[in-house]
Amino acid sequence: MLNKNVEAALNEQINAELYSSYLYLSMCAYLQNEGFAGMANWMKIQAQEELTHSNKFFDYVNERGGRVWLKAIDAVPTEFDGPEDVFKLVQEHEQKVTGLVNNLMDVAIAENDHATKSFLQWFIDEQVEEEASVQEIVDSLKLIKGNGHGMLMLDREMKARVFADSTGE
Ligand code: FEO
Repeated sequence: MLNKNVEAALNEQINAELYSSYLYLSMCAYLQNEGFAGMANWMKIQAQEELTHSNKFFDYVNERGGRVWLKAIDAVPTEFDGPEDVFKLVQEHEQKVTGLVNNLMDVAIAENDHATKSFLQWFIDEQVEEEASVQEIVDSLKLIKGNGHGMLMLDREMKARVFADSTGE
């Protein structure tokens, strides 16, 4: 049976992952509208990935005999100030998510819930990758400094990203 504090924290994280997906889908819509089809593709896949994260938590709560309660998802921003602004916000958001996953791990440790600790390790590792991949894009955008040719090349590169479910679900 799932510890009540752990169950509540996992439910919060389901909401946070759904919010992330909604946020990235909003960024995708903005980028698409601004003519950055490749970056929009990257962001759409990012939004899909967040849904797989949410599902992984959802299935885990059920597997442990817990109860999922879906709450309202906060509204997301819809206007941004160009790709640099968007990816800087993604970076900040992923840093925040890393903090949430770490807090979740703290709850599992405090409650001596070894199964949840083991489950959460995947997310701890995933956040390292998430932060590194967005850091790369932020760095590229910094180098490009809005140069048209550079933006075009980066956008083309980001169009090549394909969705792959890495959660093992
Ligand atoms: Fe679900 Fe981008 O972390």
